[in-house]
Order: sequence, then structure tokens, then C-alpha cells
Amino acid sequence: MDLAAQLQSLRDQGVAAVAAAGDSDELEVLRVEYLGRNGKLKALSKAFADEPGERKRTLGPILGETTEALRSAFADKMSALSRADEEESIDITLPRQQQQVRGSIHPITQVAAEVERVFCGMGFDVIDGPHIEEDQFNFSLLNIPDDHPARDAHDTFWMRHGRLLRTHTSAVQARVYAQEQPPLRKVVIGKVFRYDEVDATHDTTFTQVEGFLIDRDIHAGHLVATLKTTIRAVLQRDDVELRLRPSFFPFVEPGFEVDVRIPGSPGRFGQWVELLGCGMVHPEVLRAGNIDPSIYSGFAFGLGLERLTMLRHGIDDIRFLNAGDLRSLHQFAS
Ligand code: DAH
Repeated sequence: MDLAAQLQSLRDQGVAAVAAAGDSDELEVLRVEYLGRNGKLKALSKAFADEPGERKRTLGPILGETTEALRSAFADKMSALSRADEEESIDITLPRQQQQVRGSIHPITQVAAEVERVFCGMGFDVIDGPHIEEDQFNFSLLNIPDDHPARDAHDTFWMRHGRLLRTHTSAVQARVYAQEQPPLRKVVIGKVFRYDEVDATHDTTFTQVEGFLIDRDIHAGHLVATLKTTIRAVLQRDDVELRLRPSFFPFVEPGFEVDVRIPGSPGRFGQWVELLGCGMVHPEVLRAGNIDPSIYSGFAFGLGLERLTMLRHGIDDIRFLNAGDLRSLHQFAS
């Protein structure tokens, strides 16, 4: 066989053998055999050196091409094998790593669930309403007409077509009165939005619980009993004291603010803390919803859930609840 044919068959054999190599050890044996100092290519290179000058001119490129073909076959195979090695190093049969951080229910959500549970036990329905509200439900149907100064205390974001981010969950009262007739027992829990200076007890976004009950012969005694039951159940203490102070809200008459005190509590919570607004639903509000105030009466209240959560856990800054800091929130994991 002349040298050209030998070179070509070395190339074909070598490339096929390399392609068939199963691992890097086999590949190394082949490398020594073909490209080693005493390997097959070296032997043919020596034979090439002995060829006469004009044969070298035709054989030279064939030798170069053979060398190149073998080298690149080795290089390609090497990288293919090391890629396969890497992939195999992921052992899918190993047990997964233990998850270090386990989520927990936000303290506000926990207290909200507790409030819902207590009200469901008293026969209330839990309902919902939109965050983006219409003027009529947030204001005018609640006895807060366009020019009423109470609107100043409820500054918020306004959108097109007179829509706004609701400033209180009382808006859901107006929605219900527009659609249903008494007897009504409802509770709403949801976010409300207001222009407010942020400090330890105020935030621009917070969670309100609005409750209302409309039926025959409902009086303030029902209101006080309902509030006492709820607050004591949620705070899990029978000794919580309540105090009513007369106050003004356009949608109730009479209206009250309720303060609570937990006797023996350290710091602020041992003092009277303002917790909610409430009252007997104003006849104008009932009339606006086509409910006859000569037949029906009822009470309503609006309560800040953040404040209730703070009382429940002895937290003294509202910002702690909404900052999203897991280190603090995890303390209340249940
Ligand atoms: N909506 C009032 C507020 O956000 C709270 C409130 C006060 C609700 C008295 C009521 C109520 O239902 O009777 O400031």
C-alpha cells in the first residue's frame, strides 16, 4: 500500500476508533496509539521523510490533513466526554436538601381569620368589595355629599370617571343597602387607602373590618355586646375593658369612638387605646338604600385590623407589620 493510502486508512480507522471510545481512559489509550511519540502517525511521518522530493509535494497535504483530522476528532471527543461527566454528576436519586425557610401566615391574616370566625359564629356573612370604588358608595350614599367637610379627612387617589381608591370599608355598606333588604348581618375585611402621615399608628394603606347589622328593634346595646364579644375573643382575654365616647361620623347617629384597655399590660396597651368608630346607622343612609328607617334600625362599626393585631401581640409600631421583614414576621408563625 502506498503512503497516501496508508495515511487515508489511518485517518479513517483513527476517527472511527475515537468516536467509539466509551470513556476518557479508552480515549487516552487511543491517543497514545495514534498521536503518541511512538504512535502510528509518527511512524507514517517518518516514512514520509524518506519519500523523494516530488512525492512529498503531493503527500504533504495528505499528511497535514490526516494529522488535523485525528487531532480534532480527539479534541471533540474529549469535550463531549467531559460534558457527559458533568451532567452525570447530578445524582437525581439523592434526597433533596432540607428546606431551610418555611413560610408562615402573616399576623394580620391570622387575626383576620380569627375575626371572621367570631362573626360567622354570630351569624354574620363575610363579604367583599372592590378596592377601586365609586364616589356614591364611598361618600354620597353614606350621607357625605359633594361639599361635605368629612371628605377632607378622606383624601385619596382619584381615577377617571369619578372612581377612587376606597378610603373605608363602609363603602360596602352602601353597596349592600342598594341591593338587599334586612335582616342584614355582614362583615367586610379589606384594604383601604388614605392620604395620611405615616407614623407608629398610621399608614396610608391599612386593613379595615366593617361590620353592620340591620333588623327590627336593634339598639346600641346590641352594638356594645357584639363589640365586646368580638374584641375579647380576638384578644383572647376576658378582662379587656371597653369605653365609648360620643363622636361624629356622617353615616351614624349617634356615633361613638371605642377605646380599649388591657389591665396590667405594659406600656401603651395598659392605657386607653382608640380602636374603632361605630354607631347606629343614620336614617338617611337607610333611606338612600330604600330601607325604611321607621321599620328597621341597625348598627355599624369600622375597626382597624392593624391596631387590633398590635394589641393582640403587644406590637408598638404599625410599620413593623407592613415592612415585609421576615425576621420580625416569623415571630408570629403559628
Ligand atoms: N369608616 C370610618 C373610618 O374609616 C370608620 C367607621 C366609623 C365605620 C363609624 C363605621 C362607623 O361603620 O359606624 O374612619
